[in-house]
Amino acid sequence: MIIDGKYVANNILSKLQKEIEKLSIKPKLCVILMGENPTSLSYIKQKERSAKVVGIDFELRQLSINTTEKDLIHLIHSINNDSTIHGLIVQLPLPAHINTHAIIEAINPKKDVDGFTSENIGKLFLGTANLISCTPKWVIKLLQESHVPIYGKHIVVIGKSNIVGKPLSLLLMNEGGTVTVCHKDTQDIEVFTKHADIVILAAGCPWLLKKNMVRPGVTIIDVGFTVIDGKIHGDADFEALEPFSSITPVPGGVGPMTVAMLMENTYIATTIYLSSLSE
Ligand code: GUN
Repeated sequence: MIIDGKYVANNILSKLQKEIEKLSIKPKLCVILMGENPTSLSYIKQKERSAKVVGIDFELRQLSINTTEKDLIHLIHSINNDSTIHGLIVQLPLPAHINTHAIIEAINPKKDVDGFTSENIGKLFLGTANLISCTPKWVIKLLQESHVPIYGKHIVVIGKSNIVGKPLSLLLMNEGGTVTVCHKDTQDIEVFTKHADIVILAAGCPWLLKKNMVRPGVTIIDVGFTVIDGKIHGDADFEALEPFSSITPVPGGVGPMTVAMLMENTYIATTIYLSSLSE
């Protein structure tokens, strides 16, 4: 069975559009891009399109690739202080002369719709975050919307990145899941995956998960994204696994669908701003 991310994302966007209509102001999302990386530009186009669909104003601040770290931080501070902008993201990757960590930390955590600042990651650890990074948040949403229970289940996450594997394992634990994290140094991954109710793949390693490594009826969420000869591949052997599992296709499951969570985070950041006005 296929878990259709596009269908879930469209449902979320149409519900969000109705919530945004009820706000007293129009939310605004700003994206800072250094340079002209075509992949970054195509991600930004998707963000702009989704923003338009739900009624969020969108602004792209495109800077020269040679902009200094000091000037970039200056721009971030001016956006932090601009009450007409509610959500800010700095598109990654940044050029080598820029310290990415320093840039992320310069963003006001209340406008950090990527959920990348240490304040928001700390809150995620404590289970009190309201701005959670988009891919882990999407995986949880996709499971919930597909009526796949997390509470009391054994979930194997493959990959331990700061952006997906680590935050996702915390979120799953906060939801009552029993979580095993496997990674590139794990020996015999199948020892763990064979006992999993849910496997989440975020390793960037095509055909990593094969039919003989899981139980029938398992749920597989494939966050993998590798381009080979112009074709996008996830981490699962999709053709072999699809007949006896619930599985997300790549593309069409996670990937660009996470943009729906960016829109939800921009809505949340706007409500945070509005409640700060009445404090
Ligand atoms: N580059 C690729 N994905 C992302 C993302 O989710 N956020 C940011 N800021 N940059 C990215």
